[in-house]
Amino acid sequence: MTKNTLSITDNRTGQTYEIPIEHDTINAMDLRQIKVNPGDFGMMSYDPAFKNTASTKSTITYIDGGKGILRYRGYPIEQLAEKSNYLEVAYLILFGELPTKAQYDQWEYDILHHTFVHENIKQLMHVFRHDAHPMGMFIATVAAMSTFYPEGRDIMNEAERLKQIQRLIAKVPTVAAFSYRHSRGLPYVYPDNDLSYTGNFLNMLDKMTEVKYKPNPVLERALDVLFILHADHEQNCGTAAMRVIGSSHTDPYTAMAGAAAALYGPLHGGANEAVLRMLLEIGDVKHVPEFIKGVKNRERLLMGFGHRVYKNYDPRAKIIKQIADQVFAETGRNPLLDIALELERIALEDDFFVQRNLYPNVDFYSGIIYQAMRFPIAMFPVLFAIPRTVGWLAQWVEMLKDPDQKIARPRQIYLGPDVRDYVPMEARG
Ligand code: CMC
Repeated sequence: MTKNTLSITDNRTGQTYEIPIEHDTINAMDLRQIKVNPGDFGMMSYDPAFKNTASTKSTITYIDGGKGILRYRGYPIEQLAEKSNYLEVAYLILFGELPTKAQYDQWEYDILHHTFVHENIKQLMHVFRHDAHPMGMFIATVAAMSTFYPEGRDIMNEAERLKQIQRLIAKVPTVAAFSYRHSRGLPYVYPDNDLSYTGNFLNMLDKMTEVKYKPNPVLERALDVLFILHADHEQNCGTAAMRVIGSSHTDPYTAMAGAAAALYGPLHGGANEAVLRMLLEIGDVKHVPEFIKGVKNRERLLMGFGHRVYKNYDPRAKIIKQIADQVFAETGRNPLLDIALELERIALEDDFFVQRNLYPNVDFYSGIIYQAMRFPIAMFPVLFAIPRTVGWLAQWVEMLKDPDQKIARPRQIYLGPDVRDYVPMEARG
């Protein structure tokens, strides 16, 4: 007879414990009963990078890393990228269902009519150094927004929560665009609420003297699809940061600044920037074999390759490769593409990469598209953070509503000195 339990025999004591299994998972607290002596703390599990630890139950995003599957609320990413738009996907991710026409119209109106930022936020951004990294500006400004909306601290009030969510989704493109204009020494452009979410973002980036900015429809759609692909990715480093910070009941602006800070690193959302710098450094297809040799000698990483979860292929990278052709038809082909294709070709044939299941991830090709669209390299992580805002917020709300969640507080295995007496300075060797 089969039972949905796990039997563990502690060979130190010979005692057997029967632990319930739910969703192929055991509850770590059930290990605590395993002790040698009654006064012991009890057994814990050790998992420094959360490689095999579920920190939550979630209904938002499903990934099967072996099969290369990504779904938001059950809908395959391929269908959403082909048929939907970013704001509709944002609604889906937040509320769990695709909107009706009336719901979508209201949602779109609510987002497009919260795009302006307080003039003091503009002034605040203005004081950054001329060469400040846009992601540093983005993180600092999102954190500063908490001081403009103190009611955001009322996190258990559903109406207030929704207001801050709308504000954040609406205003992050404005903050991102201001950071870009700042780095170029250009005047900031105010939002145009007649345009789409991505059309308005392009407007705030590119508008010069024209009375009405008209976004290029191909680039507007390409950016929208890129936003769909980046909207959520379950419990990654940035999202885990959002949940951990949010678990102390801080406001969503402060928590999101922390999530964006986690995203900034080159192993996470900063990888798109690192890929471009790597391609520029390689400089020519003929240098690719030498570069790969360096990677295999462990002198460096092949940025844009590998993933904690995807061990077959990253479905987002596949879609991005298709968008690249449409973008290059408008902008001209990015010459770095040849280097990227050669890197991919060699890596996919090489045992080092094959044995370790290393495939191109979302960041391998996104930077090449962003560069063709004339975004400065330093803007790439910001382009990741704009659409990820909805993922962070949806996961934050899910965490707040989840009765299983408490303030995040991992355990440690203490390996430092045992108790010892303070030694006066003159007596220290
Ligand atoms: N280049 C060379 N070797 C690599 C790479 C790489 N990009 N990624 C992993 N490896 C090797 C690694 O050295 C290890 O080898 P060994 O087992 O011999 O020590 C093996 O592959 C397994 O790697 P790992 O470090 O245990 O894998 P991880 O799950 O801890 O790390 C990762 C995942 C994404 C941080 C890592 O693959 C990496 O650093 N990639 C480059 C940065 C990058 O592209 N990040 C973007 C990720 S996708 C966007 C996002 O969602 O954040």
